[in-house]
Amino acid sequence: MPVRLFLSSGDLVADRRFDFARDLQLKGDLVAAADLLSQAIELAPGFASAWFTLGEIRERLGERDAAIAAFRKAGEADPDDRHGASLRLMLLGAEPLSAMPNAYVRALFDQYAPKFEAALVDDLGYRGPALLFKAVLSARAAVRKPAFFKRAIDLGCGTGLAATAFAKGVDHFIGIDLSPRMIERARLTGIYAQLEVADMVQGLRSKPDTSADLVLAADAMVYLSDLAAVLHEAKRVLVAGGLLAFTVETHGGDGVILGEGLRYAHGAGYVRSSIRDAGLALSRLEDSSARNEDNAPVPGLVVVAGKT
Ligand SMILES: C[S@@+](CC[C@H](N)C(=O)[O-])C[C@H]1O[C@@H](n2cnc3c(N)ncnc32)[C@H](O)[C@@H]1O
Repeated sequence: MPVRLFLSSGDLVADRRFDFARDLQLKGDLVAAADLLSQAIELAPGFASAWFTLGEIRERLGERDAAIAAFRKAGEADPDDRHGASLRLMLLGAEPLSAMPNAYVRALFDQYAPKFEAALVDDLGYRGPALLFKAVLSARAAVRKPAFFKRAIDLGCGTGLAATAFAKGVDHFIGIDLSPRMIERARLTGIYAQLEVADMVQGLRSKPDTSADLVLAADAMVYLSDLAAVLHEAKRVLVAGGLLAFTVETHGGDGVILGEGLRYAHGAGYVRSSIRDAGLALSRLEDSSARNEDNAPVPGLVVVAGKT
């Protein structure tokens, strides 16, 4: 994603060295950029953005150990990990796969919000909401029920693209998202009766049992490594006969991996067993790509599960 977080060091000179180092990095002079970043860090040892950028440069230079050390320092300098240094450590194989830091997701999407729809829909051919809508229609048609839902919850609602696709068939929409800026955009749609800035699992936990007929997550579970908690909560809030519909990115193997694009990919076997373990009944699991990257469809799954 074409956004970059900068956290000031609080030291004007260190910040200036950082800016200069970024220019050099963008021009491809990585050695000089690393040198300037080291100088900035000498002035401001807790400069998370400089440590993180230094980690990126060391990685590009093939200096794996130094990259790992710099990403670790970035994490220490910003324990909330807004840069996502822990994700870079996972990709480097220096840390086991674990959850994405909420602060990273929030910072990413707060910055991304103004250009989100243009970037996703126009540049990446995003089609997650339409795919989900089609899959839910088919699942309902298979049991001879109309695709009308009294109460729906949109997890990781973003700017509201999924709710827009379902708007005509839902009476009361709740949207939950970690990013306040994305929620502001969702509010402008006028579709949601309620919007919450929250982690999707926490948001679901605050909902009463059997209070939703439909739970949606379009291109949002790609930010969760472990699906167990969200599936468990979705099942609890759904009424009998209610549906959970979501998209994920996937990969040829089993289990969960973190892709180069810093989104998790869930194997089909993992998705099936997680749904079964949550006590939901799989209705549909289709190979279907929700968006492109480098002009090629990203392998994905569209999943619909029901509560019996
Ligand atoms: C790629 S966007 C998709 C937005 C929307 N569902 C759509 O289809 O356009 C992913 C959204 O999920 C949100 N998100 C990611 N992880 C989340 C979490 N753990 N809890 C709540 N929201 C989350 C992000 O803030 C972002 O707005």
